[in-house]
Amino acid sequence: MNYYEQHHDSYLEGLKTFLRIPSISTLSEHKPDIQRAADFVRRELEKAGLEQAQLIEGAGNPLVYAEWLGAPGKPTVLFYGHYDVQPPDPLDEWKSPPFEPDIRDNNIYARGSADDKGQTYILIKAVEGLLKQHGRLPINVKFLIEGEEEVGGEHIEAYVASKPARLKADAAVICDTEMFAPELPTICVGLRGIIYGELVVEGANHDLHSGVYGGAAPNPLMAIAEILTALKDREGHIKIPGFYDRVVPPSAKERAAWARLPFDEREYRENEVGVKELVGEPEIPLFERLWARPTLEVHGIRGGFIGEGAKTVIPARGVAKLSMRLVADQNPDEAVAQLQKAVAAACPKGVTAVYKTIHNAPPSLVNPDNRFIHAAAEAMKQVFGKETVYIRSGGSIPIVAAFDKYLGIPSVMMGFGLPDDNLHAPNEKLHLPNFFRGIEAVARYIEILGA
Ligand code: BES
Ligand code: MN
Ligand code: MN
Repeated sequence: MNYYEQHHDSYLEGLKTFLRIPSISTLSEHKPDIQRAADFVRRELEKAGLEQAQLIEGAGNPLVYAEWLGAPGKPTVLFYGHYDVQPPDPLDEWKSPPFEPDIRDNNIYARGSADDKGQTYILIKAVEGLLKQHGRLPINVKFLIEGEEEVGGEHIEAYVASKPARLKADAAVICDTEMFAPELPTICVGLRGIIYGELVVEGANHDLHSGVYGGAAPNPLMAIAEILTALKDREGHIKIPGFYDRVVPPSAKERAAWARLPFDEREYRENEVGVKELVGEPEIPLFERLWARPTLEVHGIRGGFIGEGAKTVIPARGVAKLSMRLVADQNPDEAVAQLQKAVAAACPKGVTAVYKTIHNAPPSLVNPDNRFIHAAAEAMKQVFGKETVYIRSGGSIPIVAAFDKYLGIPSVMMGFGLPDDNLHAPNEKLHLPNFFRGIEAVARYIEILGA
């Protein structure tokens, strides 16, 4: 048994302690849990043997920083992760409570197990293992762990913009993505951006009896439906003027690589997605629709009567939460302006409709031709015993664009999640062999870079 294998039990115990903290960033009543999770991470970094382990407190949830800079002349890697998690609801669909980690079939089930506590813990334990075994690292490392990724990561961006010297590094390493398939080591080289906001529609100045006023009064919920269907057609094309102008299609080489990925569309459709038919722009292949095309989704519509039974009301107001995913070279500010203009144009008479931003993040594309990504592909290949594949992902990690913009460094996204990990959904899990192999792969990565 190697050092890492000898420590599986203690890694698991530590991870469970981390997962028991309900650090949900979008709900303000969990502020104390956010603080506990930040403290936990700080203590773990310190116990790992890192120096300067500290909370960076200011506006927003604390950032956690630590460093080990004892390898002059060697590269410096900036490790990033997030300790905040998504809300666990709907609660009654969890087979075990979301903040009581449960191990079943070699998986650990809990909110945050894959996204991103488990994967953040991988980074810490990899560095700890090297420091405990050798008393030193073959490269320099900095850690910057945030607690607001799931709500847009606004404050870490401001921090990165203001502290380029302190965060100076040659590359960032992020474990917050997925492997394309079980056992298949994967590096993610592209993420979509996002604009997220609320569409607020107002009609009459008070709720109205739908029999007495129906036929004369405008209905804000119908107006939401009309506006949404004007923004996207039945085939999934976004109807906002100019919206696709900046979209850069994937290269022929990238398309060809995606076509070679081992993939069973029927299995994906029926089991992973659980749907009878896939949708989206029919002329665009699936991976391109998911990774290289923008989308528009509605997440919730609030308004009117949603209690038991019937109530005949024309509501005065309705709100739809919606987001659009963006791809290179779209930019969030321009996308918001285009959306707002299209909302105004689609707004039916008798109501007002306003789109209000909650958060934005730009898309990112990483050029994989650098030693930091090559070393990651090699490390994962050695640990998993298979050639590493390069994919993109449809999700968003706001800091990736900021690392590029303010620090001028590429992000190496070596992810250890699996497609069926149920991120943001009930029964989120992390496959334990991936957790343990992730630790070894990151350690191997550090050794390869330092050689
Ligand atoms: N780790 C995810 C993003 C992700 C998931 C990347 C799967 C690759 C594969 C991240 O925590 C996340 O969920 N981000 C949010 C963005 C945010 C601005 C709300 C997302 O994508 O919805
Ligand atoms: Mn994440
Ligand atoms: Mn997430």
